[in-house]
Amino acid sequence: MPSVYIKTYGCQMNERDSEAVAAQLMAKGYAIADDEKVADVVLLNTCSVRDMAEQKAINKMGDLIGNARKRKTGQKFGFMGCMAQSRGQELIERLPDVDLVLGTQKFHRAAEHVEALLAGTSSKVVDTAEEAGSEATIKEHLFDGTADRHAVTCFVSIMQGCNQYCTFCIVPYTRGRERSRSIEDIVVECRSLVDRGVKEITLLGQIVTSYGKREIGSRDGKSAFVQLIEAVHEIDGLDRIRFTSPHPKGYGDDLIKAFAELPKLVESAHLPVQSGSDRMLKLMHRGYTRARFTEIIAKLRAVKPDIGVGTDIIVGFPGETEADFEETVSLCREIRFQNAFIFKYSQRKDTPAADMPDQLPQEVIEERHARLLAAADEARIEIYQNEIGRRREILVEGPSRKNAAKMEGRTRCNKIVVFDGSSRHTGQLLDVNITGATGTTLYGDPAILNL
Ligand code: 5AD
Repeated sequence: MPSVYIKTYGCQMNERDSEAVAAQLMAKGYAIADDEKVADVVLLNTCSVRDMAEQKAINKMGDLIGNARKRKTGQKFGFMGCMAQSRGQELIERLPDVDLVLGTQKFHRAAEHVEALLAGTSSKVVDTAEEAGSEATIKEHLFDGTADRHAVTCFVSIMQGCNQYCTFCIVPYTRGRERSRSIEDIVVECRSLVDRGVKEITLLGQIVTSYGKREIGSRDGKSAFVQLIEAVHEIDGLDRIRFTSPHPKGYGDDLIKAFAELPKLVESAHLPVQSGSDRMLKLMHRGYTRARFTEIIAKLRAVKPDIGVGTDIIVGFPGETEADFEETVSLCREIRFQNAFIFKYSQRKDTPAADMPDQLPQEVIEERHARLLAAADEARIEIYQNEIGRRREILVEGPSRKNAAKMEGRTRCNKIVVFDGSSRHTGQLLDVNITGATGTTLYGDPAILNL
């Protein structure tokens, strides 16, 4: 049985795409290898959002090829995903031993290409064209119904692409225009997952709040995205719904109301703010102001006071002054994010920001990055410490990733809780008393109710 090793870089969307490709390959009789050295085919699923992610995948491929040449393994190599899409043929020119470059609308053709490579009927394939309907092809799941993490919580891809064209971002060029699956199709997939024991579903896409804008549209004051959440909410046996990644402009009153009224939609919201300066937000083409952003958070907190708010921030966007940066620091202090992913601006090919004046020196970016991390840490640590003494509902996902002797679950607000339990708790909703906290993890005791 030929084997394929898949390594994934980047976001949850990439993880999900790799999972679907692995499931597709297994259905065609391939084994999924866990060792890159012995696999017949090695696929790297790449990320283009920052330069570092691209360099990592290119270096990795160079190492793999060097090893294969030395040991004469005869292995086949492929790139897939965002960097494959944006660089195409160039990757084969740079690394001539690469056999396959598979774009973001072609994941469903992976098995076909792998088969042809192994049969020797094709080589040096670059398959990166657009393909109508590709958004509906990421459906296969890997879990086999055993009580592992996957049997509890699953990601479901609802759309692909992004039309927002933020000036720093390569995604619209690597993932294409927004394309959404139908509500019916998504609900069928979710229901089949729940029938196999899944308790939590995360609706996934590059800009989920724009789901179905053109294909479905609003009805009774509800966006297509809220209509989808309501439809998934109806599924019996499903406990929790999450989504990622949204855009702040998509948090209209209909979505706020959904948080208030739909108990399965948990108190967790990721709102990538990118900057606290209106001048930067405009240059970034974000489509909101700082005031609008803080208003959305206030509305969310009005309906769900404990909501866990996460964000993404870029420091060192071209032209960012010390005063602009200070506005970002002050926004972090004002909002107090539960978790903030802080990125150093990375110039991306063909994006408008790459040609903007006043690109900042790396030292300035590094220094601001460290300062903002410190400000964000302060809020996060306080939020985690404040959990001590509270009782929280967790969904148990499985053994702790940090300590296999313990179990772990997640609160509705998306904080990980480690506790003494056993695998029979996997998939259960448990109430735990929070007894300890670090800046990223909570520790809990399952509550024994004296009724
Ligand atoms: N440089 C740095 N960070 C970026 N992101 C997107 N593009 C860039 C870039 N060119 C960040 C944004 C986005 C997250 C997924 O990655 O913060 O929300």
